[in-house]
Formats: sequence, C-alpha cells, structure tokens
Amino acid sequence: MRLMLRTGVLLAGALTLSSGVVSSERLDAVLERSFADNGQATVDRLQQDPVQQACHHSRSTPPDAATATSLRQERLDAVVFPADGDFLGDWQRGAEVADNGRGLQSSDDPAQPNGGNCYACHQLAPDEVAYGTLGPSLTGYGARGQSEPMLRYTWTKLWDTHAYNLCSHMPRFGAQGILTEQQLKDIMAFLLDPASPVNQDL
Ligand code: HEC
Repeated sequence: MRLMLRTGVLLAGALTLSSGVVSSERLDAVLERSFADNGQATVDRLQQDPVQQACHHSRSTPPDAATATSLRQERLDAVVFPADGDFLGDWQRGAEVADNGRGLQSSDDPAQPNGGNCYACHQLAPDEVAYGTLGPSLTGYGARGQSEPMLRYTWTKLWDTHAYNLCSHMPRFGAQGILTEQQLKDIMAFLLDPASPVNQDL
C-alpha cells in the first residue's frame, strides 16, 4: 500500500512537473511532509538511485541509449554469482520463497526472511491459480535446460533484472538484499529442476 501510494504521488508529480506547474523542490517537500519512517519502511526509500532516476519518466521519454547501455553494464558487472559455483538449491524450499509475499513492509517482522512474491507477477506451478500477469508465465521454465549460460542468465535476472532490462518492473532480489544467496539457489531449483511443480503438467 505504502509503495502504491508513493508511486501514485510520484506519477502525479511527474505529470504536473512536465506541465511546468510544480517544481521538483516543491514535490520533494510534499513527499517529505506526507511520509514518515515506520519501522523498517523508512523514508530514505524515496531517494532514487541512478537506475530509478533514469527510468522514472513516462514511457515516451526513456533514458537515452548511452545512459541505458552504461547503467545496464554497471548492473551486469555488479552481479555476484554463487561463491561455490553451485546455482541450484532445493526446489521445495524455493516453492515456499516464491509463494511468500511478506517482507520489507512496516507490518513485517524484519527478523523473518523475506519472500520473493513471484506469484504477484508470474504464473509458476500450474496448480496455483492465483497469480499476476505483469510478468510472463514461467510455467515449464525448466524446459530451457541447465546449461551454464542458462544458469547464469536466470541467476542474473533474479539478482538484478536491470542488468538486462534497465527499466524492468521486477524487484532486484540479490542486488537489494531482498533474498539471500541460499534463497536464490532454492528459487533457481524451483524454476529449473525437472521434478519441480513448475515443470509438471496439470
Ligand atoms: C513486480 C512484478 C514481478 C515480481 C514480483 C517478479 N517478477 Fe519476474 N519479471 C517481471 C517482469 C515484468 C518480467 C519481464 C520483463 C523483464 O524482463 O523485466 C519478469 C521476468 C522474469 C524472468 C525472465 C523470463 C524469461 O522469459 O526469460 C524470470 C526468470 C523471472 N522474472 C523470475 C521471477 C521470480 C523467480 C520471481 C520471484 C522470486 C519474480 N520473477 C518476481 C516482474 C516480476
């Protein structure tokens, strides 16, 4: 809710800004007045990092090609691969991480592990009928196999989606410390293990 509110304010702000009515200083002041730290949900989340600064405009004004290429490369170079070279954990634990939509909100216990909330945007196991469609269906993802490039592609996508698609709407699970290395390995297995429900027919 908090994030949705924030997005709404920012979008409204951007629209008004483009018509030249409200200065960015005034917008910042409104944001500062409107929100307060609440547990782990702190107001410093409103500070945009370079990717967010480049991507927060409307679709008709995407970042210029040189900026996009250099930011994408920066994100790609910063990906941390599993220290032991092993990409695949336990798909059963991965299923739980994918299904868990808790974490990072003021009402969540910061001592508990965060979830990936994957079903909010993706279809995964075909017997789960409640899923969002902002992202593509990942049902049958394991058919792509477990070659080294495939493992590295999938890991990178989960670690920092902006490394491939600068203005992606997917969370940066590794780069922002949302999921641990072990949770990411478990999610990788949930996507790629032939025994995972993701890769079964109904
Ligand atoms: C807020 C929405 C959102 C959430 C939550 C989300 N994703 Fe995504 N994801 C997307 C979108 C949108 C795309 C496609 C566009 C892009 O590449 O950014 C995508 C793309 C992907 C891809 C690449 C698909 C392909 O065909 O190569 C994978 C893999 C993926 N997501 C896995 C996950 C997993 C696993 C989780 C949970 C840990 C997750 N996503 C959570 C929005 C989301």
